[in-house]
Amino acid sequence: MKFASITSQDNAPTEGYIMPHTAPLYLSSTYIYESPEKAQAVFKGKEKAYIYSRWSHPNAELVERKIEEMETFGSKDVKCRALLFSSGMAAISALFQSLIKPGDSLIVQGNIYGTTVDYINHAAQQFGLKLYYEDFKKLDKIEALLKKDKKVKLVYTETPSNPTINCYDLRALSALAHKYKTRIAVDNTFASPYLQRPLIDGVDFVIHSSTKYLNGHGSGLSGLLVGSDTTFMDKDVWTIRKLHGSICAPFDAWMLNMGMKTLSLRMQQHCINAMAVAKWLQAHKAVSKVNYLGLESHPDHALAKKQMKDYGGVLSFEMKKGYKAGEKLMKQLKFCKLTASLGTTDTLIQHPASMSHFFVPKEQRQKFGITDGLVRLSVGIEDVTDIIADLEQALNHL
Ligand SMILES: Cc1ncc(COP(=O)(O)O)c(C=O)c1O
Repeated sequence: MKFASITSQDNAPTEGYIMPHTAPLYLSSTYIYESPEKAQAVFKGKEKAYIYSRWSHPNAELVERKIEEMETFGSKDVKCRALLFSSGMAAISALFQSLIKPGDSLIVQGNIYGTTVDYINHAAQQFGLKLYYEDFKKLDKIEALLKKDKKVKLVYTETPSNPTINCYDLRALSALAHKYKTRIAVDNTFASPYLQRPLIDGVDFVIHSSTKYLNGHGSGLSGLLVGSDTTFMDKDVWTIRKLHGSICAPFDAWMLNMGMKTLSLRMQQHCINAMAVAKWLQAHKAVSKVNYLGLESHPDHALAKKQMKDYGGVLSFEMKKGYKAGEKLMKQLKFCKLTASLGTTDTLIQHPASMSHFFVPKEQRQKFGITDGLVRLSVGIEDVTDIIADLEQALNHL
């Protein structure tokens, strides 16, 4: 071996004394084989081994196996397969690319994440899809559509919804979808598997922007698609991810795994803090309405109590003096950060109509309650007195 070649050897001793406690980060685009026979067997699918990191890699699979256990925790009957993507949007678009065909129809909840609406509208234009944006409280209307339009391929829901914080009945919606032989997907980002396990309620596909609570620190992008039809996940979705190159990079997957270790603890504190902040805001004279599922005054409180373990870390509220007052509030805040994301240890605030839901047509925003005056707060796990003190000083400056 030449001197210069020494640096290319990665054969670190692994037997005997190197036993890393935390999962190593596998920053390798390819994997090597001990023989051409082994390589052929792996490529033919006769033996399992990693091939190329666009297909799969150990950091992604570690997270996938964990999320499968988390999403089915508490049930012996439900089986699922999870695939990790480079973002929540990559997971959503992979579901569409694998399932939806030109000419299909979709029933979509009207008040969902803005970029999901933007994506679905683009896909509808490109592939000639028929879209029904509906209020998912109105189960009769959903049933009438399912009865009328036999081409509905997917019912798409998000609960709790972003940013109106409504809760939708997953058991009832799944039963309806299955009665008419179609499938149902739910975006479970706001709840995380700690608070809500939709597969157990009969949902076919669960989506996570794991950029949010699952990572928990705002340190990387990733998304998950979990499906109970393991053959469809292993063949159709897996192929789309491989061909599109939309798998999560090893470093982001590694950070996601680190974040997941503290999910339970973080979610408990997010819920405690959000409840305290919601109650405090509700009593403030400058605030006209607080949307938080933990408040008994919320119309979906009873359903959330039944469907979820607790009420989550995100709330939204309306200022009595409308958007101008909300804008002033966001300018005055010092501790809470003005930014588009959610689900991190830090408290984040944003204005949906001009930020996360800017791409949703105005009429649709207004129809589904995403008003110009709505402010969204993702309550972090800091000392709650610091969060409330910041809100108080900002509200006092209005
Ligand atoms: C509910 C919800 N779903 C999906 C997404 C998209 O996830 P990502 O930003 O990881 O692509 C977001 C992002 O904010 C979201 O809030």
